[in-house]
Amino acid sequence: MSESETSIAALLERALDAFESGFGRPATLAAAAPGRVNLMGEHTDYNDGYVLPIAIDRWAVIVGDVAPETESISTWYSLDLDEEYEADLQQPLQPVTLDWVNYPLGVVEEFRQHQIELPNIDFVLTSSVPIGAGLSSSAAITVALATMFAEALGFDLDPIRKAQWCQRAEHEFPKVPCGIMDPMIASLASEGDALFIDCQSHETKRVTMPPQDDAVLLIANTNVKHALATSEYAARREECRLAVEELRAVLFRQEIQSLRDVTANDLRQARDQMDPVFMRRAMHVVNENIRTLESIRALMQHDLQRFGEYMFASHVSLRDEYEVSCAELDTLVELAGELSLAIAGQDRGVYGARMTGAGFGGCAIILCRPDAVDLVTQYLVDGHLAKFDTAPTIFASHAVAGARAITVASEE
Ligand code: GLA
Repeated sequence: MSESETSIAALLERALDAFESGFGRPATLAAAAPGRVNLMGEHTDYNDGYVLPIAIDRWAVIVGDVAPETESISTWYSLDLDEEYEADLQQPLQPVTLDWVNYPLGVVEEFRQHQIELPNIDFVLTSSVPIGAGLSSSAAITVALATMFAEALGFDLDPIRKAQWCQRAEHEFPKVPCGIMDPMIASLASEGDALFIDCQSHETKRVTMPPQDDAVLLIANTNVKHALATSEYAARREECRLAVEELRAVLFRQEIQSLRDVTANDLRQARDQMDPVFMRRAMHVVNENIRTLESIRALMQHDLQRFGEYMFASHVSLRDEYEVSCAELDTLVELAGELSLAIAGQDRGVYGARMTGAGFGGCAIILCRPDAVDLVTQYLVDGHLAKFDTAPTIFASHAVAGARAITVASEE
């Protein structure tokens, strides 16, 4: 998709047109929320750890209008899938087989759980966040929708609460056991900044991204979607929970609640008495938390070389200790490494690279000098093609601001 197709303005125009032609009246409400990549801190959010995502300039856009009083149902339309759903919100809500519908159903249910009754709202949804690419297309949808619902009610929904509601919405209806990172960044991001999130306290801190004259962030989509991704994700969560149980017993420390409460030293001490798989998962999480804090220090000191080294180290840990990478992601990161000082000992413009998101396919990110973008892109495409017969989709992105309600121009 070209930039003219992925921008909020382009999506908004298409959604407004579709709404008007489908419903015979103009939309009066609109909201947008972005996708994301995570720069550092992978598989740490559900372990009460640290993450450092940015929101990217790919969006879910939703436009809507309160349904006429004569109608007892809400009509929801996915423009990209060309699928319509009639939601009867008077009935108790249940998950449905039409997958995309479970996201809005989950959000409606969250409002209800908080004693907020929504009127029937018809809406049209469209998105430029690629689905299944690990760029958080689902949080973009739930957060955009929660933003539009709050706007419709004139309700001031705090962005952190919004993120928590959206996380629960995903747990309860689509049944995706995601962490808090994706809705938090979609909700709270600010232009030009990464967001450090302490996933235990939900405290956040903005970390200024390097100027685009110094560094460009490339997103390389392997276009691989592993069927096992959701079950493996749930399996990792469970392994971490069991690692915590073992650590509690081995270290005689009942107060350990999550992997956030253990240090690298604790792990060394417990090593011989623990299940080796749980140990490796714990090692990744504990070290990834340290890397996240260290990499923020590097970013703040404008030391992109060091930041890049942490990216490579994070990838190795995700590949070997946490085992959530795949051959395509490893290849992209290896190819990027061949253009870097950190791995190849020769600086051809790459600072660092790693997989991003849940893994098992999806995207790698590469931080490189602006003058190296063409070389890196070609090198990765050629190298990937040579090995897998398919080309990755590569595009540059930058840190954008998070969810916003959009005022729809009235015709009077
Ligand atoms: C998915 C989840 C996030 C996070 C990442 C891994 O994107 O939705 O909550 O756990 O995987 O870091």
